Amino acid sequence: MKVWIPHQAGRTLLGELPPEVTVEVAEDVSRLPSEAAGVRFWVPPFLAGGDATALLGELPDLEVVQLLSAGADAWAGRVPPGVTLCDARGVHDPSTAEWVVAAILSQLRAFPALARAQARRDWAYDEVAPTDELTGKRVLIVGAGSIGTAVRDRLAPFEVSFTLVARTARPEQGVHGVAELPGLLPEADVVVLLVPLTEHTRGLVDEKFLAAMRDGALLVNAARGPVARTEALVAELRTGRISAALDVTDPEPLPADHELWAMPNVLLTPHVAGSVRGLLPRAYRLVGDQVRRFAAGEPLINTVVDGY
Ligand code: OXD
Repeated sequence: MKVWIPHQAGRTLLGELPPEVTVEVAEDVSRLPSEAAGVRFWVPPFLAGGDATALLGELPDLEVVQLLSAGADAWAGRVPPGVTLCDARGVHDPSTAEWVVAAILSQLRAFPALARAQARRDWAYDEVAPTDELTGKRVLIVGAGSIGTAVRDRLAPFEVSFTLVARTARPEQGVHGVAELPGLLPEADVVVLLVPLTEHTRGLVDEKFLAAMRDGALLVNAARGPVARTEALVAELRTGRISAALDVTDPEPLPADHELWAMPNVLLTPHVAGSVRGLLPRAYRLVGDQVRRFAAGEPLINTVVDGY
């Protein structure tokens, strides 16, 4: 059984595999390691889209696409019938949750303004202090999956209160439904987006959503850029009424002349939340387990159905 993975390091990180499994490294989808025929299990490059998805039609024996990303939006609906799509749910929980905590603290404690002052060698105490603080804040987490709960667990020691929102309400777990957002948004000091990008969440953050946020609130997007309507977001941020921490944008990469780059109330990072040194060991532990399951004819985990 032929398996393609995108990293040389993955070979050892996969762990022991059954003898019938042959692993080849397909780092670059424009330079394939061998014939496409016979590949039954494919792990595309991390966060690959476009040209990588085009390869789907050229792998006649493909049975499984195992992503290294938590998000499956670039692949959902594109895999041929009969091919199972799996995401890397769980792999990115610690890294993305850390980025969210870091981004919230940075914005509330004015680190971007302080870093700009440091670059000017300016002791900017009077300009920046007093800053805001995280203690006592009400945090609304939109997306109650594994990353959402990892964010909640990491923020809990900061003496904040939480509201979690999912596609549908789960009252027994205290999780609200997305339809309740209009009533929840005005109560939140920090709104964290962690939903997958699907037909239901594209453009979720529109003019109405933003207008419902309270004055001084912080919007954190660690989901996907198109979950927010960029024009509406820029217009709201221009007023200075809210601030944002964005790891993802639409378009992505953000063009150098885009207004978002220079907004004083925006902290912008280039989709790095999941890109940490621990990514490959964690990701290939999952991939190795999935290949062993597949080889043994056992059900796979993390299968993506309807984009989720
Ligand atoms: C992911 C990401 O989907 O890092 O894993 O964006």
